[in-house]
Amino acid sequence: MPKVTYTETAGNCRTVDANVGDSVMESAVRNGVPGIVAECGGSLSCATCHVYVEEADLASLPPMGEMEDEMLWGTAEDRRPNSRLSCQLKVADGMDLRVTTPATQV
Ligand code: FES
Repeated sequence: MPKVTYTETAGNCRTVDANVGDSVMESAVRNGVPGIVAECGGSLSCATCHVYVEEADLASLPPMGEMEDEMLWGTAEDRRPNSRLSCQLKVADGMDLRVTTPATQV
């Protein structure tokens, strides 16, 4: 089963089994993982599902779309080269993704 590991800025870490086709945001919300607010429910209009993807895992993800790129300039915590919006990251078969949640989303 695909896995996603969420690490908080404070260092707490949680790995969840994720369903193929769900988003990384949905997997967090469903499992009560803190640090992802997802105010808009995944409609790409809030940027409160911001995560920092582990550098080594970046290449395994599809490139971001233009809208995600735009939205990432409006995150509460500064954008970094490994920033993504977790509602735009679909869980794929065999995925073992590691992300860090920012200290704040709002
Ligand atoms: Fe709102 Fe991702 S949940 S942009």
